[in-house]
Amino acid sequence: MSQADPAQGLKLIERHGCAACHVIPNIPWPQGRTGGSLDGIGGRPMIAGRLPNQPDMMTRFVRDAPSLLPDTGMPAMPLTEAEARDVAAYLYSLDED
Ligand code: HEC
Repeated sequence: MSQADPAQGLKLIERHGCAACHVIPNIPWPQGRTGGSLDGIGGRPMIAGRLPNQPDMMTRFVRDAPSLLPDTGMPAMPLTEAEARDVAAYLYSLDED
């Protein structure tokens, strides 16, 4: 993704506690299970099984999933748009299952 920094995204993912609900590569602890593993997410066709996996969609989803899927268990997270892009860039670096 252009203008996004995956290394910064990993830091944001750690700081915001995404791993409380997700297994995420390069985060040894915690390894939450409620949200499923994000390993390989960059190579999957869908987000949450229901949304096309595209950069803009991922950026919105990690920031405010309930606005896209009102019944989702994925909470809105306090990220700016630019931070959400960095987070998405990190997730897209996880493209192997
Ligand atoms: C309170 C628990 C919780 C937290 C915290 C959380 N998530 Fe989630 N997340 C979920 C759940 C539950 C789902 C499944 C949503 C669905 O299927 O509708 C999900 C789904 C996702 C998905 C789609 C996964 C897939 O297999 O398609 C991504 C990507 C994601 N979360 C990223 C993040 C990121 C990045 C953060 C931190 C900024 C985060 N999540 C924080 C619970 C959480």
